[in-house]
Amino acid sequence: MKAGILGIGDALPPHVITNADLVARLDTSDEWIVRRTGMRERRHIEGDETLADLAAAACAAALDDAGTPAASVDRVIVATFTPDQLTPGLAPAVAAKLGADHAGVIDINAACTGFLYGLDQAAALVESGRARNVLVVGAEALSRVTDHEDRGTAVLFGDGAGAVLVGPIERGIGIAGFEFGYDASLASLLYADRDEGVLRMAGQEVYRHAVARMTEASEAVLERLGIDAASIDYFVPHQANARIVGAVADSLGVPHDRVSFNVEWTGNTSAASIPLGLAAANREGKLKPGALVGMVAFGAGFVWGAGIASWKEGAGADGVRDARKVKTRST
Ligand code: ACO
Repeated sequence: MKAGILGIGDALPPHVITNADLVARLDTSDEWIVRRTGMRERRHIEGDETLADLAAAACAAALDDAGTPAASVDRVIVATFTPDQLTPGLAPAVAAKLGADHAGVIDINAACTGFLYGLDQAAALVESGRARNVLVVGAEALSRVTDHEDRGTAVLFGDGAGAVLVGPIERGIGIAGFEFGYDASLASLLYADRDEGVLRMAGQEVYRHAVARMTEASEAVLERLGIDAASIDYFVPHQANARIVGAVADSLGVPHDRVSFNVEWTGNTSAASIPLGLAAANREGKLKPGALVGMVAFGAGFVWGAGIASWKEGAGADGVRDARKVKTRST
């Protein structure tokens, strides 16, 4: 049995932080932020808003999109490193808000790569027959772990949640595979420690490693699956910086009109960034059923990963893409 993405949903908090808002209180400029990062807006949760509410809203939209009732959900996997409390994690509250009363619930923390790990685990659960309907949601409130006085990082981070429903498909590519990697010797270049509680980053070095590892991981997963980069219909790299996204796409030879630059409107939302990019592309009509989607992430750890999945394939008779139509290295 294969597993596939059956539904997508997202949720952003209403409070928008524009570049002008940042310019008003930091030694920065709209020109610097746009030129160096590609960002124009990000969202921050405020007051009583919780990340569990945001994650549950994204999950509810994904279930609605798939036409699946919450009572049928077997697992809720939340990728986050900014939950509402140190413990419990977000997953129990998210499942309860949805009415997913029979679900197993778990949080995972792999920083910006968390959503891809969640997708990998969801696919394994479905393919093994241990679960049928698995929600995977990337949800972050990075505004909680930002030094809002540090212009080097304060402009970068945003909050949001994006979710997919993973379930069995009868034929097609589905969630085809992943390549993961890590290098703990470089952990001091990007971290938030317990005492200070805010993200610290050696920007230029992280940038260099991010481009190299995201490119290598993407090439490795394509190679292993025997798929040519030219077959990727849509590419969603982790939205850390538009220059990083563009550089990785260029290295792989994926034209920019097939690449998510959602970072412009969300900033860097860590584990939420890939599903937010998928949701935006879906809304804009850039993802047709059966489209081949590339995803890649890099973040604290360093931990990185890349994956390939087909879009809502096998969920209905229309739009089912035949695996043989995908251009492979041998064709
Ligand atoms: N406004 C104006 N000037 C600024 C700002 C700002 N907001 N921030 C930094 N500067 C200045 C610096 O002080 C420096 O000035 P100096 O030359 O006088 O010393 C100059 O701009 C250049 O600084 P750099 O850090 O070299 O700028 P760079 O072009 O590398 O851009 C950035 C910084 C955007 C952080 C970039 O390095 C980057 O995107 N790094 C990678 C981020 C990343 O990949 N994160 C992924 C994981 S993190 C996560 O996802 C949670």
